[in-house]
Amino acid sequence: MDLERAQALDEAQKLRREIRHHEFLYYVLDAPEITDAEYDALMRRLQELERAYPDDVPPDSPTRRVGGKVSPEFTEVRHMTPLLSLGNAFSDEELAAFDARVKSGLPEGSEVEYVFEPKIDGLACSLIYENGRLVRAATRGDGEVGENVTANVRTIRSIPLTLNVKEGEEVPELLDVRGEVYMPRHAFMKLNEQRSEAGENEFANPRNAAAGSLRQLDPKVTASRQLSFFAYGVGAGHKDKHSASLAMLHDYGFKVSEGYAVVKNINEAIAKIKDFAAKRQSLAYDTDGAVIKVNAVYQQNILGATGKDPRWAIAFKFPPEQAETKLEDIIIQVGRTGVLTPTAVLTPVKLSGSTISRATLHNEDFIRSKDIRIGDTVVINKAGEIIPEVLHVVKEKRTGAEQEFFMPAECPECGWKTERLNGEAAIRCTNPHCPALGREGLIHFASKGAMDIDGCGPAVINQLLDNGLISDPADLYLLVKPQLTALERMGDKSADNLLNAIAESKKQNLDRLLFALGIRHVGAKVARLLALHFGSMEKLMAAETDEIAAIEDIGPKIAESVVTYFASPVNIDLIERLKELGLNMEMEAAELDTAHPFYGKTMVFTGTMPTLDRATAQTMAQQVGAKVTGSVSKKTDYVVAGAEAGSKLTKAQQLGVTVIDEAEFLRLLGEHGGEAGNDARPENEAAKAEQGEEQSLF
Ligand code: IVH
Repeated sequence: MDLERAQALDEAQKLRREIRHHEFLYYVLDAPEITDAEYDALMRRLQELERAYPDDVPPDSPTRRVGGKVSPEFTEVRHMTPLLSLGNAFSDEELAAFDARVKSGLPEGSEVEYVFEPKIDGLACSLIYENGRLVRAATRGDGEVGENVTANVRTIRSIPLTLNVKEGEEVPELLDVRGEVYMPRHAFMKLNEQRSEAGENEFANPRNAAAGSLRQLDPKVTASRQLSFFAYGVGAGHKDKHSASLAMLHDYGFKVSEGYAVVKNINEAIAKIKDFAAKRQSLAYDTDGAVIKVNAVYQQNILGATGKDPRWAIAFKFPPEQAETKLEDIIIQVGRTGVLTPTAVLTPVKLSGSTISRATLHNEDFIRSKDIRIGDTVVINKAGEIIPEVLHVVKEKRTGAEQEFFMPAECPECGWKTERLNGEAAIRCTNPHCPALGREGLIHFASKGAMDIDGCGPAVINQLLDNGLISDPADLYLLVKPQLTALERMGDKSADNLLNAIAESKKQNLDRLLFALGIRHVGAKVARLLALHFGSMEKLMAAETDEIAAIEDIGPKIAESVVTYFASPVNIDLIERLKELGLNMEMEAAELDTAHPFYGKTMVFTGTMPTLDRATAQTMAQQVGAKVTGSVSKKTDYVVAGAEAGSKLTKAQQLGVTVIDEAEFLRLLGEHGGEAGNDARPENEAAKAEQGEEQSLF
């Protein structure tokens, strides 16, 4: 091995260790020690080295999390040892009875130590590590046979791809980690918000959302869902005490059941459960009970199982918290995209530690299916323990005075007609100028992830609207100082700062402006893809549905929505005014090297490349000015083909389009010093976008 290569491989190996350590601090311990920018720099350096020596990249490199192919289906996997389920207990007496059963199954006078653990509300998975490397992940299935979800599980950042084995310690040949994949509450709420805006059905609770996300055929989708994992046990490879196995899993780099504890007897276990019941609402994830397990593995073995339930463990289930109250009224809220959401106004009632006076009714179908009427007595709970939801109506308590509710044919904010689009559960206001849309749209326009106008939050927008100073985004750029200083709580200095921030925002790149406009289905990511592909507002406005839909990751629904938006005279007028006011309408490409072999070229990626996953390769190409599309035509300049490239490769050959492989792609990419930064932390990217720290690509 030549010296240069040896040094590079050594550096890469050190970087992988360092990156894994920081991912552990960030995703498992929630205690990062470096900034995101420092992390990104480490990742970029590693990618650079891996690009130079693509044959020496191990499959568990931190750069290889999201790399799996989209699969047509999940294959079945037989578990090495079955994944058991648990018997339930609902009271202290039932726990005492469990303890008595345990003791009667063991030699007279046995002391039994238990482990208390929270019961996480997600779905069980088995992770197989061979020689320290994650080789397979499977869902529980029926306990004997589950589904192979390895590519998706690899995207979960709190799951180590390689066990963190201490220096000098032996790497286990085989380890079967058992645990729960779950979706944190904040991620669940955000996902549902996005789905609601896109007119898609919301998930009922974080468990369903986690299950749906893990069963995605495209690992990229799973990667975007912010799933996490708690390890709570070991199949093959356990220690002699369960608590020792948990400690071992923690050392290997897993998040283990938070707050687990070894207790001397069942009474201590019951006390632990009581403590936990009082604080579980404040956790970042849903729990539906506690699990009590016999600690000594030899005792577990003596006890065995009855059917699918081990005799050495039991789940204590918290009663689902519900409350009865009166539904006094149904009001309609109009959101930024014009969706009308019915909300129940309730007689305030206490539920899981908070007072509830509102509950979402989702849409008209929900109200009909539960036959909810104004004046009804209803039972509510918290969906996923967070969002108050109406479970059912207590029909016996009806007096006959209850009134059926229909979604209004007119928007409550502006009086325009409402409509229900085909296939959507949502009803929308048809008025492009609806004041509700305007208000929410303006708040979105100025927000951090969009135009990032500092000091222009919801309160200021409302003040400006109430004083008649603005009615659409363009008006922001016409504000003058005396108008601002005349507002309450707006001093000389704040007015100056606000005007500066507004003026500064004119320079924002096209992707942010597109996102800020609030075009239906165009989130930050789609906005970026559009901006990169078209380069200017003018070109995007002239584009046809087909061309937009041909962009990788953009489907016909989004394309249709973009074209519809730019067909509206009101929107065209708004863009014209923004342009006249000096807003940047281009994707800044100042630093792009126009002589780069890929600059301005149309490229298609197909097949599996030896080291790069497709999304990374596409981003790399876009960053040097290439346009990436999903289908091959005469206009295609390059097709980058990997293994198992199918019809796209054939078509390229028929049309005589230049076909290159990954090595050639990387060589050409590097020719003009194209630096490719791949944000390998999708979760983080979203967080950054929210904080407005998202870096422009150029
Ligand atoms: S132990 C033999 N521990 O609950 C042991 N399960 O109702 C079997 N669960 O399928 C599981 N948190 O999905 C165990 N700390 C925990 C758990 C837990 C959640 C789930 C798991 C299991 C189900 C049984």
